[in-house]
Amino acid sequence: MINSSTRPTIGVFDSGFGGLTVLQALLTYLPGARYAFLGDTARLPYGSKSRRTIARYAIESAHFLVREQGAEFLVIACNTASALALDAIQDAVPVPVLGVIEPGAKAALEASRTGDVLVIATDATVQSHAYASACHARGLRAVEKACPLLVPLVEEGWTNHPITAEVIRIYLDELWAEATQKAMHPDALVLGCTHYPLLRPLIEAAVPPGVQVIDSAAAAAHAAVLQFNGRAAAHPASSGEQQTEIHCFATDSVEKFERLGSRFLGRPVGKVGLVDLGG
Ligand code: DGL
Repeated sequence: MINSSTRPTIGVFDSGFGGLTVLQALLTYLPGARYAFLGDTARLPYGSKSRRTIARYAIESAHFLVREQGAEFLVIACNTASALALDAIQDAVPVPVLGVIEPGAKAALEASRTGDVLVIATDATVQSHAYASACHARGLRAVEKACPLLVPLVEEGWTNHPITAEVIRIYLDELWAEATQKAMHPDALVLGCTHYPLLRPLIEAAVPPGVQVIDSAAAAAHAAVLQFNGRAAAHPASSGEQQTEIHCFATDSVEKFERLGSRFLGRPVGKVGLVDLGG
């Protein structure tokens, strides 16, 4: 738990609701902080955009959190922005910035015995091959698959819908076929998009027994705690909850954010501020 006299502001950013899965894990591991969360909902999805556009959006969002919210530490709770713009964001702000790709790959290494892993992510993340590189650097073989329909389904709140379950099944069947063709024996599936943990029950129901589902959001939150505290271990705690402050912002549809955000965060997100970051 953080001492209230030195309470830091931690900025957490995603294109939409997905980053709330990282915020939820941060609240568990690092209670007592002041959190400023920004969902760039007006410009979502990032996953279908170019590196240049993603970097511009991500830097504008990072500037808002650092300059206007006083964030002293940034967690990029978006695999797409982490894969394509982490360096650009780090260059643009004077505070430590943590992305989700490296923690996700590290968690895959810890989980896999066969050394073969599967990654599902947005189109832009897959095109960047950021996960494949991070996995290869750790001696893992990885097959990546873009699942572009999943983010809009989550943003629509269809996290437990039969259509979503069917879409997941089709994507995973295709991914499995590709891994089999490459004579791989995957035993871990990385959720390489922070929206996907919100679909975890449906995804777990669709993978064969023995395959571990890795949540890059939880892995990133854990890495953030270690980096932030400089401590060797983080323990879930509840005693600091009264002091935790959460301020959520969105670039569009604040009412929808208040409604769905509270459901996804598992606690009220409170009044959501509307932010205009331009086009
Ligand atoms: N949640 C974001 C990620 O982790 C992507 C959503 C989007 O496409 O905007 O990649």
